[in-house]
Amino acid sequence: MQKLSLVILATGVVAAGLWGIGDYMSRKGEEHGEAPRGQAIAEQTCLRCHTKFSGDPLPDPDVTTAPALASFGQRWPLENLEEALAEGISVSHDDMTMPEFTLTPQSIADLLVYFESLTQEADRK
Ligand code: HEC
Repeated sequence: MQKLSLVILATGVVAAGLWGIGDYMSRKGEEHGEAPRGQAIAEQTCLRCHTKFSGDPLPDPDVTTAPALASFGQRWPLENLEEALAEGISVSHDDMTMPEFTLTPQSIADLLVYFESLTQEADRK
């Protein structure tokens, strides 16, 4: 009985160790974005004004100039957007009542991966 609990204990330690490494690896690259998270952020913060693809009906009839999110990657390298988002992109929105975005590096990475996937989808169309 005592031997068995030792085995369980040892397995638990190994599992915790591996989990710790996995956790470290996933956190190490802070820049590692996830498209589904990016999509959720975009839905909350960008898709209120922007469309996903050119030609989609604009979400807000008062907004007539917001370019499609998929078009970002078609027009510039998306890395350029990273800096803009980090610094606050209010410059491009100055004719609007602009919500202050507080985007963390992680949210930006998530958004960029999502934009990239939209761009690829638009290119395939
Ligand atoms: C309140 C409405 C609104 C929201 C919310 C919004 N945008 Fe915009 N965005 C605009 C408008 C309008 C323009 C076009 C401004 C112009 O033409 O000067 C624009 C332009 C841009 C541009 C510049 C595009 C270009 O072609 O130069 C980028 C990049 C951009 N938005 C990214 C974002 C991102 C990323 C989000 C979400 C985090 C977001 N926007 C949320 C309205 C919005």
